[in-house]
Amino acid sequence: MSCPHLPEGFDATDPDLLESRVPHPEFARLRRTAPVSWCPQPRGATGFDDDGYWAVTRHADVKYVSTHPELYSSRENTAIIRFNGHISRDQIEAQRLIMLNMDPPEHTRVRQIVQRGFTPRAIRSLESALRERARRIVEEASASGDADGGFDFVTRIAVELPLQAIAELIGVPQEDRARIFDWSNKMVAYDDPEYAITEEIGAEAAAEIIGYSMNLAAARKECPAGDIVTRLVAAEDEGNLSSDEFGLFVLLLAVAGNETTRNAISHGMHALLTHPDQWELYKRERPATAADEIVRWSSPVISFQRTATRDTELGGREIRKGDRVGLFYSSANRDPEVFENPEVFDITRDPNPHLGFGGGGPHFCLGKSLALREIDLIFGAIADTFPDLRLAGDPRRLRGSWLNGIKELRVGIGG
Ligand code: HEM
Repeated sequence: MSCPHLPEGFDATDPDLLESRVPHPEFARLRRTAPVSWCPQPRGATGFDDDGYWAVTRHADVKYVSTHPELYSSRENTAIIRFNGHISRDQIEAQRLIMLNMDPPEHTRVRQIVQRGFTPRAIRSLESALRERARRIVEEASASGDADGGFDFVTRIAVELPLQAIAELIGVPQEDRARIFDWSNKMVAYDDPEYAITEEIGAEAAAEIIGYSMNLAAARKECPAGDIVTRLVAAEDEGNLSSDEFGLFVLLLAVAGNETTRNAISHGMHALLTHPDQWELYKRERPATAADEIVRWSSPVISFQRTATRDTELGGREIRKGDRVGLFYSSANRDPEVFENPEVFDITRDPNPHLGFGGGGPHFCLGKSLALREIDLIFGAIADTFPDLRLAGDPRRLRGSWLNGIKELRVGIGG
């Protein structure tokens, strides 16, 4: 059985495909003709016993699966539909200690604790540091330009603020921030041969980041500092995180909050510069709705997966217990049943019920408010500093199976 009405072997998680584009035309066809559709994967592309998954492409179905964890579990490796190489049972077991791969009630306990670090008040308390940081990042980028004033937007601007925001949030000292950045890159980029990162290097980086964070947590237990880490790990109160759990949480943040926001910023810049009317509008009015539209338009996380806990039915298809189900946020975010003119990039779109941060269930993105603030702050600083920014080349895309990534975006200033 293959995806009906699509070329034989079509797989929306294929790194060869995603290195060149997100398959929006194919998603549109699936939404119309086979919104829940079986996609086989070539043998060896996954480390799972089966070789395929159900592609869920409509907004309503992605929401349904996300909000029914009793039917669709997160315990089997949610982030990876396709894995180039082998993922062992041990690795899957180890990943179950990360909240993204937990089900209620276990997930509820951890989520309730870590949520304390992400209250509106906690995010507001970062505002002035992040605003200042955004301004500095943009100014330093302008000083770093080549002879013709051009620079790579990704490395000079997009990577910096998300990293600094997470480091600020968990209180990583300035001198250690570059290490966290290096480790988090190594964990995500192993699909792209350009980075020459093996699974071993990725695993080593993960171990280092966990070790580092556990030390940070232990230090705060010893000597409380009144910051978020202290609040999450304070030993005396019941219902706090152990140092191990804290280490795994930081590992999750380093991946979940870093690459995602970086790619939203890179795609946002590309979208604004390729839609000059929207860029002009942004510079003039700075609409508060812009950041959400950037996330809808770019959908930095293309898909996550769930596993059926029992035989069930979705979109008229029979789903068997143990079947893997891919939630294609990129497709849901262009569903014409929900969005008027979904193919139009409109920074004043309101309402904008996109699923870029997930389908609204228990795993809904913890960092949504922070990410939207970061996007706002960085484009505000860019509009102030580089009103005449222009594209100086096509984006170079990241090779991977679930991130809509840009690894290079050349821009120039003026003329
Ligand atoms: C979960 C997207 C930024 C932390 C998720 C999920 C998505 C997502 C799709 C899964 C939702 C689900 O399974 O229902 C994004 C995008 C971002 C972004 C597109 C940027 C534009 C951030 C930031 C942080 C963060 C800045 C933290 C600093 C998390 C965490 C989870 C999560 C901890 C797991 C929540 C759980 O399992 O309960 N994100 N995210 N994210 N995100 Fe984000």
